[in-house]
Amino acid sequence: MIEFKDVTYTVSGREILSQLNLKVPLGKTIVIIGPSGCGKSTLLRLAMGLIKPTAGQILLNGQPLTDPLTGKNKFSRGMVFQSSALFDFLSVYDNIAFGLQRRKNLTPEEIKHRVSRELERVGLGADPSLLTKRPAELSGGMQKRVALARTLAMEPKIILYDEPTNGLDPIMAGVITELILQVQRSLGVTSLLVTHDLKTALRVGDEIGLLFQGKIRELGPPLAIMESKDPLLRQFVEGVPTDPLRTNGEWCL
Ligand SMILES: Nc1ncnc2c1ncn2[C@@H]1O[C@H](COP(=O)(O)OP(=O)(O)OP(=O)(O)O)[C@@H](O)[C@H]1O
Ligand SMILES: [Mg+2]
Repeated sequence: MIEFKDVTYTVSGREILSQLNLKVPLGKTIVIIGPSGCGKSTLLRLAMGLIKPTAGQILLNGQPLTDPLTGKNKFSRGMVFQSSALFDFLSVYDNIAFGLQRRKNLTPEEIKHRVSRELERVGLGADPSLLTKRPAELSGGMQKRVALARTLAMEPKIILYDEPTNGLDPIMAGVITELILQVQRSLGVTSLLVTHDLKTALRVGDEIGLLFQGKIRELGPPLAIMESKDPLLRQFVEGVPTDPLRTNGEWCL
């Protein structure tokens, strides 16, 4: 469904991604783990079409990516951003309805129905007073759920998750992880998720890969990844703060 072919991304003379190859098959969830600053968000921004590769190609269903705002497959991908990226000045309702209101074919009633359907799905349907609240009035976990509801409301075929459990306590991280799993199972979406939360990775990933020095290392099923003898993976799995993931005093690059 999504394919990165020899994708290189250079910024300010630094190669963040380097001839990276990755395939995300239809209906599967691929999780990319990796240390901070190694290019995980960059990978997702490229898949979303928000930035363009310096070299190489990203294919969506075998076709080159089109611009997310103007291209014809603009609604087929949805992204859940690392920071939730909700609009501070809009209510929960308007945040979720934002993309829908820009679609010509939906009536206000249909939009209302979709907003409540998605709030229900993410476990926030019980309290109607939430609809008029602003993001600043919500906890981090609620913000993540509203961000997920906003993405789901657009009914994307592909969901890109950037650190969906970042900054949450272990229980809320578990709630979000289960939600992602539920979305995956009930809607059959194709997902690419990046995280440094191993627990989430192991729970939701059909396959897990490590991003390091611009390339995906050791892509495989969760069990194989946990048992891998690769020193980079061992270090990441065991959380050892020395070489080889840390080279010359620098993480990643
Ligand atoms: N527009 C940009 N200008 C300059 N540097 C950039 C830009 N975008 C990304 N980078 C650099 O590229 C590297 C990868 O950034 P990215 O945000 O993709 O990392 P990440 O793996 O998502 O990190 P984290 O786990 O902290 O979210 C970082 O060193 C970052 O400083
Ligand atoms: Mg990031």
